Amino acid sequence: MTFDSLVKPSVRTQPVYEPGKPIEDVARELGLDPAGIIKLASNENPWGPSPKAIAAAKRALEHGELYPDGGCFALRQKLAGKWGLGADQFVVGNGSNEIIELLGHAFVAEGDEVVMGAPAFVVYKLVTLLFGAKAVEVPLVNHRHDLAKIAAAITPRTKLVYVCTPNNPTGTANTEAELLAFARALPEHVVGVFDEAYAEYLERAPDLRPLIAEGRKVVCLRTFSKIYGLASLRVGYGYGSADLCALLNRVRQPFNVNAIAQAAALAALDDDAFAEKTARENRAGLAQLERGCAELGLEVVASVANFMLVRVGDGTAVFQALQRRGVIVRPVRSYGMPEWVRVTVGTPEQNSRFLAELRHFLQGPAGATR
Ligand SMILES: Cc1ncc(COP(=O)(O)O)c(C=O)c1O
Repeated sequence: MTFDSLVKPSVRTQPVYEPGKPIEDVARELGLDPAGIIKLASNENPWGPSPKAIAAAKRALEHGELYPDGGCFALRQKLAGKWGLGADQFVVGNGSNEIIELLGHAFVAEGDEVVMGAPAFVVYKLVTLLFGAKAVEVPLVNHRHDLAKIAAAITPRTKLVYVCTPNNPTGTANTEAELLAFARALPEHVVGVFDEAYAEYLERAPDLRPLIAEGRKVVCLRTFSKIYGLASLRVGYGYGSADLCALLNRVRQPFNVNAIAQAAALAALDDDAFAEKTARENRAGLAQLERGCAELGLEVVASVANFMLVRVGDGTAVFQALQRRGVIVRPVRSYGMPEWVRVTVGTPEQNSRFLAELRHFLQGPAGATR
């Protein structure tokens, strides 16, 4: 039996997203003790969620028999207070991944074009292809988004343009001035999407709200998966004009964000001290990784996010060797960077272990040069 004649062409040729390897998979495949494995592959928060978020999630589970508030009223109210925007200027998703899909539902059809940097977060491309549109990829320059080149790639067929800042997988960011100028020059027929999944790690994140006040067609994406440590619960949001958010809310599932995730996200927003501690630890961790890689003579891309690209030679070989020793990092061959791996900033102990295993791979157990 085959589904070839039934399935939509865009699905037949759809590439498959490769997530960071879960600890359980690695333990099973390699016969390792899961307790001894560390995962530095998906830019998760090594400090876990805020204790306040954990407590709120537990409380919400007590009412697991009830459907969640599909409109995420309380969470949107809270976000409105945090951002100084209206509650109708938010759309909450099952991770910010879902908002990217909602943008596809609302705006992208066959024959359309979506412009994005390359390499950038691969889901922009996957969703574009899924809706039968063309992904127009604009190479980064010096590992950074070149906004002039991105603007030049816009055509009458362009519907969306994605700018990921800080960018995954490079960890580089564009300045507020660059982003504002770029967005203000976008043509009327294009929606500008600014993915700020890692913005909380910046000393000072660009403030793109003036664009919303000016009535521009922009939406910014945020997530609770990174600095708030809630990746498993799947909650993220977009903010922009009320009209745009209404469109995105129209195409989502009625109960897209579960009640436990909503409760945890609400409580996480009440724990600024936790987020600030995570950002501080992250900056120290970036410095630790940079120092360690320099000692090994390895090039890195200076990062302002919670991960870093390291040029190791054969990225797949390093990924496999480290995985056998219980350290999971991310090969980035699929992002067109076969010589690099991406490592998430862990706790100081996890960073040390990564560096020690990398040294072990490069120099052998006795420190002899390979
Ligand atoms: C740039 C970027 N955007 C969005 C996401 C999706 O995050 P989530 O769906 O967990 O909110 C990720 C996840 O790694 C990311 O790196």
